[in-house]
Amino acid sequence: MADSIRIARDAPLQSRNTFGVAATAPVLVEVADAAALPALLADREFGERLSLVLGGGSNLLFAGDPEGVVLALTGKRVTQADDFIAEDGVRTIVRADAGVEWHDFVMRTLRHGFAGLENLALIPGTVGAAPIQNIGAYGVEVREFIHAVEAFEPATGQMHRMDAAACRFAYRDSLFKQQPDRYIVTAVEFTLSRTHSPKLDYAGIREELDDMGAAPTPQNVADAVIAIRRRKLPDPAVLGNAGSFFKNPIVPAPEAEALKAEHDALPVFRGNDEGTRKLSAAWMIDQCGWKGHRDGDAGVAASHALVLVNHGNATGAHLLDLARRIAGSVQERFGVSLEPEPRVIGATW
Ligand code: EPU
Repeated sequence: MADSIRIARDAPLQSRNTFGVAATAPVLVEVADAAALPALLADREFGERLSLVLGGGSNLLFAGDPEGVVLALTGKRVTQADDFIAEDGVRTIVRADAGVEWHDFVMRTLRHGFAGLENLALIPGTVGAAPIQNIGAYGVEVREFIHAVEAFEPATGQMHRMDAAACRFAYRDSLFKQQPDRYIVTAVEFTLSRTHSPKLDYAGIREELDDMGAAPTPQNVADAVIAIRRRKLPDPAVLGNAGSFFKNPIVPAPEAEALKAEHDALPVFRGNDEGTRKLSAAWMIDQCGWKGHRDGDAGVAASHALVLVNHGNATGAHLLDLARRIAGSVQERFGVSLEPEPRVIGATW
């Protein structure tokens, strides 16, 4: 097989997931060049047993071992200046391999003078994972900048290049999340601009820039976002976590109004469309008293109620059990059901 492919059996996954929980892949296949995928997956040993594509491991919980074959795309063709294709002086389309670290990519686009991704600085994970859950933070979702997603479809052996409409993006959702095993994202193309105006409306950004005494340039906005994230969200290198463990629930507008009437302080945002609203899961979890809770090595971050943390040797099953208890108490108190944001492997929610 091609040099770009490495195969390991009974491979430990603890260092490949940001929760840092122990799990084992029966077979782990690392592929550096996505061009090798068609031949690899045509081989029945791999194609038929593929169960999971692993990126930075920052948005999943191993509640048990994955079955079959785990695939990791390790290609890191970093976008060189020459890869800033189709520049017209203002806008550019830039393409990055799935394996490129997301934060490195964001900083690189800013260094080249292209704005747009600054509010999404410091999100863990890879470029290939970004469209899957349509990553979002501080008032921006990545969908706004996606020109196309390149994805391989193992069942048909076809490579696709889909525009943003075909990706069916919604809040923390996409075609790739709706049909989790159908496509393997291999590269993403982004439309960025030299004249993009910064988005500063999300709570805390303007204040942070004021505190820094900084003008709202894209680079400074990224620095402000980095400072806020560092304060609020635990660093997975220090304390295992997968960012927000629950999605902010989207409910019909009248339901949000009824809840708001009862709980005046509940933060409510606009939903995917006019008829829906997004409720703050963090606030509801906080009200139920979970912030900073610790149950052995499984806990809730002291700095943010939406983040589950592994204090050392928690198992994925233990973290999942804690998550279920949290969701149960929010259901009981607010009548709202929470859903996990990360993909749960080896158990059903
Ligand atoms: N809040 C609390 N208690 C807390 C934390 C927050 O009551 O412990 C309340 C506050 O009123 C705050 C509001 O919740 O104003 C919203 O909090 P925050 O700005 O932290 O946003 P979030 O809705 O909790 C979402 C994303 C984060 C993203 C932030 C910032 C989801 C599931 N999470 O969190 O994304 O960084 O907004 O835009 O949409 C992630 O997806 O892993 C992630 C970290």
